Amino acid sequence: MFNTDLFEKELSTSWLGRELFFFDELGSTNTFAKNLIGDGSLHGALIITDHQTHGRGQYERSWETNSGENLTFSIVFEPGNGNRLTVLTLACALAVAEQLEDITKQQVELKWPNDVLVNENKIAGLLTEASFNGNKFKRVVIGIGLNVNQTEFSDELTDWATSIKNLTKDDSSREKLLARLLTRIEYYYRLWESVDIELIKKINKRLIGYGKWTSISVDSDLLDGEYKFLGINESGQMVVLNKELEVNTFSYEQVRVHFNSQPG
Ligand code: BTN
Repeated sequence: MFNTDLFEKELSTSWLGRELFFFDELGSTNTFAKNLIGDGSLHGALIITDHQTHGRGQYERSWETNSGENLTFSIVFEPGNGNRLTVLTLACALAVAEQLEDITKQQVELKWPNDVLVNENKIAGLLTEASFNGNKFKRVVIGIGLNVNQTEFSDELTDWATSIKNLTKDDSSREKLLARLLTRIEYYYRLWESVDIELIKKINKRLIGYGKWTSISVDSDLLDGEYKFLGINESGQMVVLNKELEVNTFSYEQVRVHFNSQPG
């Protein structure tokens, strides 16, 4: 069972995770966070559950995870507008990657738009959802599923999912891990807020395929030829160069990059 007392004792952030909603069991932390009432008062709130029964992933997929072994949580941000949210998602993914690299001592990469991989195996995934009041931006919820102590995965996932324990053979304290991860996320949030180019550079260095020629599909159509992946720009658009050396930018919703045979 996730120990909230230990987590709160370990937490050294100034605002992130200071408001905590913990549930033994919950359908989806993202759904809960999106529906929370409290306009403008929830910045930094953390929703966490030990047993997520209807976890959701990108592209309407489900996120399945053993109860009590992993981290399934959502963070509420209220930045005032819904601009550059792709960068914010990748900033959180960067924090996850660095935290995992500290623990596993292995190279951790980001796969556009929001997967975290080690040796081409997925160890964490992020789901970002913005909420609006009518057409006024209200909040953004970033949900993170991180495989910590789970060692067996379903047949469907077993070939491409991994966990910290699979990599280190050791159990990790989820409470300490989450407390440290939030410190990193808080730091990168500040860089994101101040539109710091260092954040973009750090993200790009970790993006799989950065600087490489690859094929891409736009709005589900595979484009002819190869494109050089130049990472993201400050707005969070993906930048590619075609063989004629023309630069094109695409939004996150439009594009998928094909680097290997994994799903997604
Ligand atoms: C993906 O890789 O497709 C994204 C997975 C995101 C899963 C997390 S677990 C906590 C939060 N609540 C959800 O329902 N989904 C996210």
